Amino acid sequence: MKKCITASAAALALLAVTACGSGGSPAADDGTITLGFSQVGAESGWRTANTESIQQAAEDAGIDLQFSDAQQKQENQIRAIPSFIQQNVDVIAFSPVVETGWDAVLLEAQRADIPVVLTDRAIDSDDDTLYEAFLGSDFVEEGRKAGEWLVDNAEGQTNVVELQGTTGAAPAIDRQEGFAEVIADHPDIEVIATQTGDFTRSGGKEVMEAFLRSHDDIDVVYAHNDDMGLGAIEAIRAAGLEPGEDIRIITVDAVRAGMEALAEGDINFIVECNPLLGEQLMELVEQVAAGEEVPKRIEVEETTFTQEEAEAALPDRQY
Ligand code: AHR
Repeated sequence: MKKCITASAAALALLAVTACGSGGSPAADDGTITLGFSQVGAESGWRTANTESIQQAAEDAGIDLQFSDAQQKQENQIRAIPSFIQQNVDVIAFSPVVETGWDAVLLEAQRADIPVVLTDRAIDSDDDTLYEAFLGSDFVEEGRKAGEWLVDNAEGQTNVVELQGTTGAAPAIDRQEGFAEVIADHPDIEVIATQTGDFTRSGGKEVMEAFLRSHDDIDVVYAHNDDMGLGAIEAIRAAGLEPGEDIRIITVDAVRAGMEALAEGDINFIVECNPLLGEQLMELVEQVAAGEEVPKRIEVEETTFTQEEAEAALPDRQY
C-alpha cells in the first residue's frame, strides 16, 4: 500500500501519498499490505511454532511479510523498526524481547504514521498511544495456574527452584509474579533458588546443574517454559535422580516435546501458552491498515494439562 508513491503523474502521486499517509487508507496500488515483523528469535519450540504460524498466516492472507529475527537481542529490534520505517511498510508488528526501552523507537514509527501491533509480549510504557493493540497471553495468569497446581499437590514442606525466562521479558516477570502471588499464603512452599535460563533448553540444563550442585533438598522445578524444563530433566537424570518423581516439574507452553515428557511422567504439569497467533495477528494487521478501531488488548484462550490430559491431547497437537 505505501509503495503507492511510485505513481507517475504528479496529481496521482499526491493523492496516493495522502491516502497512504493516513497509516492505513485503502491501497492506491494492488492493495497488498506490507507488514514489518520483528521476531524475538528461535530460542524455543514455542517460538518456532509462533514463527511458522505467522509466516503461514501472512501467506494465506496475501500479506507481504518482511520478517526479521532479533536473535533475542533488544538492540536488533531497535535497529529493525527504523529499517521498517525506511521501507515505508504499512504496519509494524513485533514481539518485544524485553518489556522496557521502546518509547523512542516507537515514537519514530508514530511520527512516520505507521501503526504498531504488539504480539506475544507486551511493553512497559506510560504512553499507550505508541501502539494500536496487543495480542497475546495473560502471563500473570499462567504463573498463577502453575502456583495453584502446586498448592493443590504439595506434600508438606516443598522446596522449589525456579528457572526464569529471559531477564526483563514480560513472560519471565509475569510468570514469576503470578506464581509468587499464589504461593504467598503457603509458607510450606518456598522458592529456594531462582535464576534465568533464557528460555532455552541448554540454559535450563546449565542452571539446573548448578542448582543440583548447591542444593540437595529440591522438591520441585518451576520452569517458565517447556524447553528449560526439558533441559532440567537432562540435568536431573545426569545427577542420578528421577525427573517427575524425585523432583517434580511444572512448565509453561505445552509444545509437543513438553507434552510428550508430561505423558511419559517426566514433567508433572504444564500450563498452556498458545503460540498460534498468526491468523488473529493478520486480521488485526488488516484492520489497523484500514484505519479501523481495534481493542487495545486481545488475550488468547489457554488451558492446562495433567499427564492424562496430555496423553489425550497429543494425537491432535498441532505443534
Ligand atoms: O513469550 C512467550 C515465551 O517465549 C514462551 O513461553 C517461551 O517458550 C518463549 O521463548
